[in-house]
Amino acid sequence: MPRPRPAACSWCPRWSSEFPGWLPREKMTGSTPQFPCLRQESLPSSRMADANPAHAVDSEFYLPASEFFPSQRRTALTYDDVSLATLYTEILPKESQIDTRLADGLHLNIPLVSADMDTVTEARMAIAMALNGGLGLIHYNMAEKEQLSEVSRVKNHVHGLIQDPIRVHPEQHIGDVLELIEKKRFSFSTFPVVDGSGTLLGLLPGHVVKPRYAHRKVTDALTPRAQVRTISERELGADPIARADRFFTENLGIHKLLVVDDQDRLKGLFTLSDIERITQETGAALKPARDAQFRLLCGAAISTVRRKDGTIDRDRTISHVGALIDRGVDCVAVSTAHGHSRGVGEVVRLVRDAFPALPIIAGNVTSAAGVEFLASQGANVIKVGQGPGSICTTRVVAGVGIPQLTALYVTSRAAAACGVTLLADGGITKSGDIVKALTLAQGVICGGLFAGCPEAPGQIVEINGKLYKQYRGMGSHAAMKAGSAARYGHSADATRKAAAEGIEALKEVAASIDSVVAQLIGGIQSGMGYLGAANLPSLRERARYVRVSPAGQREASPHDVIEVKTPGGTADKA
Ligand code: XMP
Repeated sequence: MPRPRPAACSWCPRWSSEFPGWLPREKMTGSTPQFPCLRQESLPSSRMADANPAHAVDSEFYLPASEFFPSQRRTALTYDDVSLATLYTEILPKESQIDTRLADGLHLNIPLVSADMDTVTEARMAIAMALNGGLGLIHYNMAEKEQLSEVSRVKNHVHGLIQDPIRVHPEQHIGDVLELIEKKRFSFSTFPVVDGSGTLLGLLPGHVVKPRYAHRKVTDALTPRAQVRTISERELGADPIARADRFFTENLGIHKLLVVDDQDRLKGLFTLSDIERITQETGAALKPARDAQFRLLCGAAISTVRRKDGTIDRDRTISHVGALIDRGVDCVAVSTAHGHSRGVGEVVRLVRDAFPALPIIAGNVTSAAGVEFLASQGANVIKVGQGPGSICTTRVVAGVGIPQLTALYVTSRAAAACGVTLLADGGITKSGDIVKALTLAQGVICGGLFAGCPEAPGQIVEINGKLYKQYRGMGSHAAMKAGSAARYGHSADATRKAAAEGIEALKEVAASIDSVVAQLIGGIQSGMGYLGAANLPSLRERARYVRVSPAGQREASPHDVIEVKTPGGTADKA
């Protein structure tokens, strides 16, 4: 029997699909309930999740993005200006799936990216981010050669079979090896020893790589070839990790397995600790973000390099990106303050034409036209944010920029139409902001939240008994001098005269990335639980927004109490 359709429920965008049998109001009897939610008891229990649409009164006040943002179109809003309404849920927070697809070939297990800033992301941060399932974007305030080796450090970090292991030569001194370890900041000290043609001569064990033997030659200290356990590359089969795992189980006390070809040339290396870490990952809550060859994901920022005459240096750009790809980079980020500009479009188009399959992140923009422009040039992922960052002064200096939630809504409309994804970049201070950002974007970029972590580059300084790390805007004078001037449309030699768009600051030293990320993920999943969202697409679909008054904002944080436990660092605050 057809159920009556309540006229009031036409407010709810989902009524027609979820209640196809409702009758028009005029056909209702006097006793017919007006709202679908009052009829739930008559629905089969298997449909309870779907059968819990918003109450008509809720629907009038808590609006989907497509109604909420246009209703606020004369005011630009940011995270604290809105709150998300809770919805009926059958989802436990820890069950919610937070993996996200940014582009073909760029799939993250958590929607977090560390900013391409010189006080945030180098190899150590990128490794920590990828191990937690996210992505680090290596900044470009360094020589190209250095950036390439930072990418290599990430890509060579624990990926099962190390295909290009660091090797030493028999005539080197152990002192040279110690210097190499110090210079490259290696965390290991056992090295295969090879001759000039790459043939395996033995293994230099870590326990002899000590300053007391610095003057001895590698050849005097190595474990000879005959005693080194090896496997032929032909024996690895379809699952090299399982093969190595079996080898280590069968060979008690052996921690290294070298791979050789038919001529006994070194072709790879397995270590027991890598294999154990990989096998443990199978049951871990946060799975590392890896490429098809089981290496950690890593991104790198590139700049708009110009020749003296102001034109884009196409050859240098192509050779830089080509070299990054050779090192295994998974995406490049064309990072600038104003992505809706000819120069940025040219660089994106250049990279897209030269490397058709490479995921390209580009930005920053805050308009639908900006998204369309970058997408038309070949970008896959667009960074959204102009001036929201904790160290940014773009809005103060230039008077431009859009508060982040409005910028995300506007850009998300164009992104959906163009088939590109969005990263909400800057202004994230707590996990609740991330939940709100993820209602419109596929991921977030954080700078300040991660800058105090030990994995961020930079020295720790002590001031009045408290420990801090440096955190500076890429548009600060100091950072522009170090290389990022092009990001703000200035040439490096003119930076002293250019108006800085960022500040130099300090962040209190925070907990490790692992615990900061764990706190953030806990918050994101909590938010998803409140909204009944099993995954991020569902979060985007289910989000209902309401504007918050200044008093409402005060109410949202602890108030009218004396805090006995003050949050100590970023992790606690997150
Ligand atoms: P958070 O809030 O996470 O922001 O610290 C990091 C983001 O800020 C951007 N960024 C800047 N923006 N002037 C700016 O206007 C700057 O000097 C600057 N440095 C970084 C960048 O998008 C980063 O991801």
